[in-house]
Amino acid sequence: MNISGAKNAAVAILPATILAGGVCVLENVPQINDVTIDLQILRHMGADVRLLDKSTIRIDTKHIKNTAIPYELARHIRASYYFLGVLLSKFNHAKVSMPGGCDLGDRPIDQHIKCFKSLGAEYSIEHGMVEITADKLIGTQIYFDKVTVGATINALLAAVKADGLTILENAAKEPHIVDLANFLNSMGADIMGAGTDVIKIRGAKTFRGTDYTIIPDQIEAGTYMVAAAATKGDVTIKNVIPKHLEPITSKLRKVGAKVIEDDDSVRVIGAQEYERTNIKTMPHPGFPTDMQPQFAALLTLARGTSILTEGIFDNRFRYVDELRRMGADISVDGKVAVIEGVERLTGAPVKAADLRAGAALIIAGLSAQGVTNIEEIQHIERGYEEMEVKLRAIGADIVKRTVAEVGAIAKVV
Ligand code: EPU
Repeated sequence: MNISGAKNAAVAILPATILAGGVCVLENVPQINDVTIDLQILRHMGADVRLLDKSTIRIDTKHIKNTAIPYELARHIRASYYFLGVLLSKFNHAKVSMPGGCDLGDRPIDQHIKCFKSLGAEYSIEHGMVEITADKLIGTQIYFDKVTVGATINALLAAVKADGLTILENAAKEPHIVDLANFLNSMGADIMGAGTDVIKIRGAKTFRGTDYTIIPDQIEAGTYMVAAAATKGDVTIKNVIPKHLEPITSKLRKVGAKVIEDDDSVRVIGAQEYERTNIKTMPHPGFPTDMQPQFAALLTLARGTSILTEGIFDNRFRYVDELRRMGADISVDGKVAVIEGVERLTGAPVKAADLRAGAALIIAGLSAQGVTNIEEIQHIERGYEEMEVKLRAIGADIVKRTVAEVGAIAKVV
């Protein structure tokens, strides 16, 4: 099975095309709803967007003038706040509705605002809109109080044209931050150190259009790796960067699955039984929070007691009640979930509360006895390209059904 381009890289790179003020051709763009919304926002602002093929998009941002993004467009995705950084950089002004995205508990944007202010901008929040203006952006030193992917990306976007040197300390190190920095550099930016916790950005004056290929999605790959293990399958997952998958590979091996790495693929061979383990989610290169629910689905069937500690978000256990409906034995206390392995899960009607919760329910449904109906799969479609098609191609019995009033229902047998 083939992995698509990375959602969280794409949703940063698409807004960044505005800096080109010309034509960018992006390859390996995932066909997911978050990307569709970003493209709608770009069109709303005046960009000319053309799909050259399934995963290649040509975007001409020469005629962008509009620096305001309304609620109806911004509310659907978290990443709409990247337009704040990029519009500030390009036009010294941005007005964007407060961002939406998965409900994972409190998701403040104080570190984003701190960056913009440090660079010399003023901001206000009125009627649900964040407005930022600056006469001039000036390079500065920014220490993040917390490791944050979103604020690191917004700082990169906002600082690339600022006068002089900006130094970001305690920056996030995720692969999609490196990907964005590479993309910005290919347009004319001068960024060094992305992928470490100190990033240096020397302001550049001219940007140009570029052709760029987005990295593969490590969370999509990790999801299918865990699905292969949970169903005791033997699956080769292609178009991946195995180094990005190390935290997942290492945990899968720990519980008993076999993972064989090649240059740009990984093969996962499931075991008949799995051992318990403990996991704590952390910023990269720690175990990713975006894989916590999927791994929990696997551990419901492991021998013994596993402990999952969520180290990033306040509320990322919203799938637990649904897994219980399928027979899982899980208790949650704050940011810790205790999973007692059970002999089997049984199919049940369940609801996807967010993107990765939905992925976890698909994994549970595939490994359970009987039929699982998953409702509210619009969450899953925000971040996984044709998940049911890809799973069917490797032998899963899964179909997507549309039900007019309710939205959509996936039936996993
Ligand atoms: N935080 C603050 N202040 C801020 C920003 C963040 O306190 O100004 C806190 C958050 O509340 C959280 C922690 O810092 O507790 C980390 O948040 P981060 O900024 O890293 O997350 P994010 O940018 O909101 C991105 C991904 C998430 C992924 C996290 C962590 C995008 C669009 N979203 O969110 O992806 O879970 O990083 O890696 O890139 C997903 O794909 O399912 C998803 C939720």
